[in-house]
Amino acid sequence: MKMAKKIKVIQYGLGAMGSQMVQVMLTKRDLEVVGAISGSGRLAGEDLGKAIGLKKKLGIEVSRNASEVFNRVEADVVLHATTSWMREAFNQTKGAMETGKNVITIAEEASYPWLKSLEKIGREIDRVAKKNEVTFLGTGVNPGFMMDYLPIALSGVVKEVKGIRIRRVIDWSRYGVTLFEHICAGKNIDEFNEARARGEVAFHVGLEQSVRLTAEALGKPVDEFKEAAEVRLTKSKRVTPYMVIKPGTVCGYNQIGHGFRKGKEFLTYEMVAIINPNPKEDGTDVGTFISIDGEPSMEITVGGEFASQGGWGTVASAVNSIPRVVAARPGLITVNELPPWPCLP
Ligand SMILES: NC(=O)c1ccc[n+]([C@@H]2O[C@H](COP(=O)([O-])OP(=O)(O)OC[C@H]3O[C@@H](n4cnc5c(N)ncnc54)[C@H](OP(=O)(O)O)[C@@H]3O)[C@@H](O)[C@H]2O)c1
Repeated sequence: MKMAKKIKVIQYGLGAMGSQMVQVMLTKRDLEVVGAISGSGRLAGEDLGKAIGLKKKLGIEVSRNASEVFNRVEADVVLHATTSWMREAFNQTKGAMETGKNVITIAEEASYPWLKSLEKIGREIDRVAKKNEVTFLGTGVNPGFMMDYLPIALSGVVKEVKGIRIRRVIDWSRYGVTLFEHICAGKNIDEFNEARARGEVAFHVGLEQSVRLTAEALGKPVDEFKEAAEVRLTKSKRVTPYMVIKPGTVCGYNQIGHGFRKGKEFLTYEMVAIINPNPKEDGTDVGTFISIDGEPSMEITVGGEFASQGGWGTVASAVNSIPRVVAARPGLITVNELPPWPCLP
């Protein structure tokens, strides 16, 4: 379906994900990039084209002043990619909603904003969004699709779901330094343990969100969630566009989340992230492996190039969801409220 007019988008955050979002939006017939904010300010004053590594200028000056951009630039959507944390995402985009712009963030926490610890801020986001008649959505590839939207959609062709098990193994090298810093990538195990003891380590943010979102969509909320995680150390040198990982240092992690109903395990979601995975050394292939224990049971594997290009999945999911979010009801929503979002022409 062709849009009556182009949807105007401001990009907030020009790191690994944000700069690729702009690249993808430039290829989309019905989207127009009209503004750009450098969250850290490091790219302020540059032309957006240069800021995202293109050879051509785009005629949009990157700004460090988000509220000035929100007030000056007319836009339908702010696409936000600076943080994993919902409070930060809200603080950074509140002004966008107050100036009538919908917000799509890839902050993982926002994918299911109704955890006890987030409920208060969730209600505040919902209030601001409704007051300004705009929509606020947390999405991405995971959380936001592979471990929630996809199993929810697959369950629609099953008579009964008794349990779901998902193992997702990703090439982590496509993401930016923010995620690497969360688990001390490139540091030795002592440095990792010290950071963990100081409470500075965050593994994949969003496993609990995906478990609870799936369970609630199935009408079977989990009453207990437990998770465990450990890092992986590399034997070989691994090079990413953003850093070099030396032998003997952290190159990824294994994390598993268990959702229980009345003492019985219902959902088991496992996340394995490895920088430049090597099946021989790491003992695993990349891909997402979904098993639905149900009537009838079902096995789905998402493999191919997609499995080793996770970063693009996040970027595409956020960009392609734009028209759905523009059309969605006002307020704070979760992905399971949206019809599937096709790849935009
Ligand atoms: N839901 C999902 O599926 C999903 C997937 C991937 C990533 N994520 C999340 O998305 C976020 C961005 O990922 P990434 O790979 O693009 O990370 P990244 O390359 O490290 O980029 C993060 C960007 O955040 C901005 N920033 C840094 N400090 C800031 C501050 N104090 N205030 C405001 N902005 C600040 C910077 O933007 P400028 O460069 O513009 O200055 C930086 O480039 C991460 O938190 C990550 O966890 C979610």
